[in-house]
Amino acid sequence: MMAEDNFNLPKHIAIIMDGNGRWAKKRGYPRIVGHKAGVNAVERVVRAAATRGIRYISLYAFSTENWNRPKNEVTALMGLFKYYVKLKIDALKKENVRLRFSGRFSSLPESIKDILREAESETLNCNKIDMIVCLNYGGRQEIIDAVNIFIQKNPQKQIDEKTLRSCLYLPDVPDPDLIIRTSGELRLSNFLLWQSSYSELYFTEKLWPDFDELDLNEAISSYSGRERRYGKT
Ligand code: FPP
Repeated sequence: MMAEDNFNLPKHIAIIMDGNGRWAKKRGYPRIVGHKAGVNAVERVVRAAATRGIRYISLYAFSTENWNRPKNEVTALMGLFKYYVKLKIDALKKENVRLRFSGRFSSLPESIKDILREAESETLNCNKIDMIVCLNYGGRQEIIDAVNIFIQKNPQKQIDEKTLRSCLYLPDVPDPDLIIRTSGELRLSNFLLWQSSYSELYFTEKLWPDFDELDLNEAISSYSGRERRYGKT
């Protein structure tokens, strides 16, 4: 690998994994088959990101709004998360992947909370890449939760930027440098609202189950060629 290959590499990539349903529909399958194919894409892309030297990858797996989907799809998705974590935890540990969760943990089903907690503690010391699964996640909800934590501790004080940041779900994780959304939709859909202020955005028509290492490389190349000015000239 040439030295410039690592030049301007994003440290944190966040992905809105969209298009699983359409991928399945195109093939005449039920939507959950698309989500299963989406899990394969997760594995492929996390491995590729780790190989490229990306330090954090955030994946929008289930939003606070996704509870409004048909009950059978919600149940199947929850089942898929549990199954994946249980099945893969040893492999993730071996590959030095730290599994973390971000979202409104308190209102997740009990059965899933235990599995998530265990997976987090099992991989706590892994440090090749942090794989952050955003589950029951909403950007507005995260900001509200942060403000409420602050008020509880400091009822008389005003909040500032640094303090608000310290009350977010994962305060140690740097803001995403690059946010990718698949399947041609051009919006953030309540993902990482606070953290995305200066993120570069990348959109592709590819449906999430079809997204692969080459697509990731293309997104990274696009990022690397951009100039980030953070409001300066
Ligand atoms: C959006 O596609 C996708 C989701 C709401 C679920 C994403 C979840 C996964 C890919 C599984 C991730 C698993 C782990 C373990 C991280 P959509 O259903 O909205 O697709 P559509 O827009 O084509 O209907």
